[in-house]
Amino acid sequence: MTPEGSLLAAEGLHKAYGRTPALVGADFSIHPGEVVAVLGPSGSGKSTLLHCLAGIITPDSGTVHYGPHALTGLTDAQRSALRRTDFGFVFQFGRLVPELTCLENVALPLRLNGTRRKEAERRAHEWLARLEVEAVAGRRPGEISGGQGQRVAVARALATRPRVIFADEPTGALDSLNGERVLTLLTDAARETGAAVVLVTHEARVAAYSDREVVVRDGKVKDMLAGLI
Ligand SMILES: Nc1ncnc2c1ncn2[C@@H]1O[C@H](COP(=O)(O)OP(=O)(O)OP(=O)(O)O)[C@@H](O)[C@H]1O
Ligand SMILES: [Mg+2]
Repeated sequence: MTPEGSLLAAEGLHKAYGRTPALVGADFSIHPGEVVAVLGPSGSGKSTLLHCLAGIITPDSGTVHYGPHALTGLTDAQRSALRRTDFGFVFQFGRLVPELTCLENVALPLRLNGTRRKEAERRAHEWLARLEVEAVAGRRPGEISGGQGQRVAVARALATRPRVIFADEPTGALDSLNGERVLTLLTDAARETGAAVVLVTHEARVAAYSDREVVVRDGKVKDMLAGLI
């Protein structure tokens, strides 16, 4: 079980890639509907933490609980089912499917969850419009700008109305004005649907979008105030 009131919680995570330690005793928890910004220098373990929290990689030791589920106690199939139904992702290195149109990319997770094509496409159009990229619905990812791609990726993460959104530098390819706009759209939509957001970002004005900030440094997680000391 997660600590009282939290939706997702990790305790004592350790993860090494060969001899490179990425996480060394990292703790993290997030409440339903909470937006937590994850900050920290390059290589400090932010993406590794996010991937452990989402059950994409298994830590060497430590636990991750999502509600009553211990992620490490689930089979691969159970973990991927959970990711499809409950989690949404905006990855650091955009992962739109190049062969599909932007509309099809956004509709894809809905289709995988069993939504009928017409309904999936209707909702995909809605989310593209909301992220202000309806105009590129019929184009493939290779035919749009990096910033448009990022907006499409955010639309795709939100379309299934996930309980937790994992966003790894969702504004990476955007200038700061566009970056702020996308963060506003992402966090507003999350607040409206009650989703929790784990937001890795380097956006300077991160406090404007998050309820709480944590810093990852040398594979450990500290809250923002402790991180400054
Ligand atoms: N697949 C991998 N194989 C080997 N080492 C890795 C791998 N992924 C990450 N690392 C190493 O683990 C450490 C943490 O990496 P991670 O990607 O979690 O950092 P990050 O905080 O997300 O960095 P950035 O801000 O640059 O995205 C780094 O030292 C990195 O070089
Ligand atoms: Mg990273």
